[in-house]
Amino acid sequence: MCGIVGYIGNQDAKEILLRGLEKLEYRGYDSAGIAVNNGEGVHVFKEKGRIADLRNSVDNSVKANIGIGHTRWATHGVPSKKNAHPHQSASGRFTIVHNGVIENYEELKQQYLQDVPLQSDTDTEVVVQLIELFVNEGMEVEEAIRKTLKQIKGSYAIAVLDEQNADTIFVAKNKSPLLVGIGESFNVVASDAMAMLQVTNQFKELMDQEMVIVTKDRAVIKNLDGEVIERAPFTAELDASDIEKGTYPHYMLKEIDEQPLVIRKLIQAYQNENGELEIDPKIVEALNQSDRLYIIAAGTSYHAGLVGKQLIEKMAKIPVEVHVASEFSYNMPLLSEKPMFIFISQSGETADSRAVLVETKKLGYPALTITNVPGSTLSREADYTLLLHAGPEIAVASTKAYTAQIAVLAILANVTAKARNIAVDFDLVKELGIAANAMEILCDAKDEMERIAREYLATTRNCFFIGRSIDYFVCLEGALKLKEISYIQAEGFAGGELKHGTIALIEEGTPVIALATQENVNLSIRGNVKEVVARGANPCVISMKGLEMESDRFVIPQIHDLLTPLISVVPLQLIAYYAALHRDCDVDKPRNLAKSVTVE
Ligand code: F6R
Repeated sequence: MCGIVGYIGNQDAKEILLRGLEKLEYRGYDSAGIAVNNGEGVHVFKEKGRIADLRNSVDNSVKANIGIGHTRWATHGVPSKKNAHPHQSASGRFTIVHNGVIENYEELKQQYLQDVPLQSDTDTEVVVQLIELFVNEGMEVEEAIRKTLKQIKGSYAIAVLDEQNADTIFVAKNKSPLLVGIGESFNVVASDAMAMLQVTNQFKELMDQEMVIVTKDRAVIKNLDGEVIERAPFTAELDASDIEKGTYPHYMLKEIDEQPLVIRKLIQAYQNENGELEIDPKIVEALNQSDRLYIIAAGTSYHAGLVGKQLIEKMAKIPVEVHVASEFSYNMPLLSEKPMFIFISQSGETADSRAVLVETKKLGYPALTITNVPGSTLSREADYTLLLHAGPEIAVASTKAYTAQIAVLAILANVTAKARNIAVDFDLVKELGIAANAMEILCDAKDEMERIAREYLATTRNCFFIGRSIDYFVCLEGALKLKEISYIQAEGFAGGELKHGTIALIEEGTPVIALATQENVNLSIRGNVKEVVARGANPCVISMKGLEMESDRFVIPQIHDLLTPLISVVPLQLIAYYAALHRDCDVDKPRNLAKSVTVE
């Protein structure tokens, strides 16, 4: 979702901003822009479409050492050049980029800006017009920004330029992510560290309702009352090469291939010197003390949560509920007496999940975040964090984070079971190792997945994924992967539920991908496949070794039945990838989607 960059120093700001925006492309956007101040005035360049289009529109003769940039994912107002950021105040003195949503922008417009003609349909423009209004009333710029921020309800990360001050970027944040990067004789601003790794790996975190006065030599953090806050920088543990595609045509394919390595890294990360799995005892104790766990997540992370429920209930014997974050806040179920919340989020920034975290914290319940991004909002605000160690996930479609989430949930379940003196009849370290090896075999089966995608999905307009038990959850994920990157209408269904309505959609040739990895439901899912075949479906059964039948299209290696989602998802990820390629879709940046969904 929207991304912000800013630079002040001695170099050409344009190039650093554009490169920064390119690194934020993965978050999803529909327009982009930059503004630079060359001392004679602020120059704004913006375009609907890709950063490449923006690059072409930038006037290279403008040289400036200070600037801000933005990728926009439309919320208020259609994607267009007019609505793209940066936005300017009526006189052109102030220029702003903004992430987030100003919930009360209509009220603010009515209250303060009736006489100001607005140039865009965005909520953002109200902020920059208010700053100018307060400055025109006689306030210092910093004070005017503070006053504006105090009027705002909602979420924001902003960076502001003042045409009359080419030495300062004014920055602030509330609920939306923003970091300040520290350099020698330069400073930068970025929604995430990746955007500015090109120039620094030293960053300062910002808390909600803080602002920063950024010059080339200093970055002074203040609260909204103007009091200075000291904060030491941290080193981003990222390598610039982690965020390159290397020889891969797409990040998604690279990230699918990285999955075995991530599982092995996770085993190491959660093993103690005796080779035993270990998790911070405080986390285990918190789980142990609770009478019910509530997993809160969205999208792919929600699907991992469904698998997590099985793992925790089967191993640690604690009841678990899994909820879609965006529904939970407005429709909170009756909670148990001693609930604990587990937030699963690749980015750690998902606004829907954060809204639940804020709510449950108010109620005083303990919270654990499982995330790929250390220092992310959900990590900072929860009591405990478990990291996914998956490395940056750049493709919008989540792959390695999903399998890492399942592996971490398995480790959590296993360690908690031991702490509760519940015997687990298998060695998880060994079984995860077997799963990683099986993943490798599946990653090598790309040609076959490409054939399946071509044969079943090249021209179809819909596709069904069916499975039972834990396979059903993987079907939900397989369908999500296919629809988000290939735009084929895809549904994941519990095999037994199909005949209660949805089977009406099966026509001659409708592709039905069935998973059969669970012995206890193998015959039932086979029965469901027969039902759809009898109605003309084109079945593609993916089964696990030991359960296979002659007509199965593909057989995955045999692993422990609780861990099968780790590997059965791999063919589905690859099939979605190749289906998208066959249909000429932009695999890494599918339309309408954002990687980090920072608005509710
Ligand atoms: C799908 C996908 C999304 C995310 C969802 C939650 O491939 O990536 O469904 O899983 O937006 O995001 P996180 O995990 O960052 O909270």
